Amino acid sequence: MSQATRRLTDGTEIPLLGLGVWQVPDGPACVNAVRWALELGYRHIDTAQAYGNEESVGRALRDSGVAREDVFITTKFYPRRRGDPAAEAEHSLRRLGVDQVDLYIVHWPQGGATWAWPGMEKARELGCTRSIGVSNFDVDELAQVISAGSVPPVANQVQFSPFEHRRGLLEACERSGVVLEAYSPLGTGRHLGEATVTQIAERLGRTPAQVLLRWCVQREIPVIPKSTHRERLEENAQIFDFTLTDDDMAALDALDRTRGTARARERKWW
Ligand code: A2P
Repeated sequence: MSQATRRLTDGTEIPLLGLGVWQVPDGPACVNAVRWALELGYRHIDTAQAYGNEESVGRALRDSGVAREDVFITTKFYPRRRGDPAAEAEHSLRRLGVDQVDLYIVHWPQGGATWAWPGMEKARELGCTRSIGVSNFDVDELAQVISAGSVPPVANQVQFSPFEHRRGLLEACERSGVVLEAYSPLGTGRHLGEATVTQIAERLGRTPAQVLLRWCVQREIPVIPKSTHRERLEENAQIFDFTLTDDDMAALDALDRTRGTARARERKWW
């Protein structure tokens, strides 16, 4: 499996493909998904304090026999209770059973864009994480955190797919040296049956999931599809051995339902 990576502004390399474990229950389902992913060659796992499954991610990592330094691990600070991002990072490390994560992200800008950032910087200074970033931040929120902090976020993880092609936000991220990461790249499964996607997949002899994921990695956008099925994990990893034509990319781009928004989400959900 390809280990294509993208360099973040602080020099850290993030693998373009990762496994996202949002909505994977703690326990065997999560342990199996992560273990299979690592067996299949995934080297990037994306979890969060709010997902409640960091312990399973850690168990699978230890059981896999894959060296810790070969896997890029992201977790996210849960801002709902306010709290101290640095102290919460220590708790995450204990649950994951690792000394450091690779990327620690503010899960969403609840309570304002900037209050958590000093604690995120402290988590980095303490060595709890190599890099710090944000998630679900709009252009304005991103600008606020960049100007407030001494270390800028390296990534902004948002819902992103041809149907949620947030061009305004993507362009702002690229201008600021922030890598946009795509979560829910399959629309949590809803986009797989869409006609344009299935037609391109048929023509190329690929699957709809592969087409949607290829659309991201062909733009060097790190992408973290979720699956708890081994055969789908395998399918989702086979996206580095084909290319979408310019026409395919344009047809997929045209599916955008956000009108190229600069927003990170349709509405606040907290
Ligand atoms: P499952 O976990 O049962 O395999 P997203 O990454 O956009 O959140 O989408 C995740 C959803 O898409 C999950 O419901 C997952 O189901 C499903 N899924 C993931 N990969 C595939 C695939 N290759 N084919 C069909 N469904 C998939």
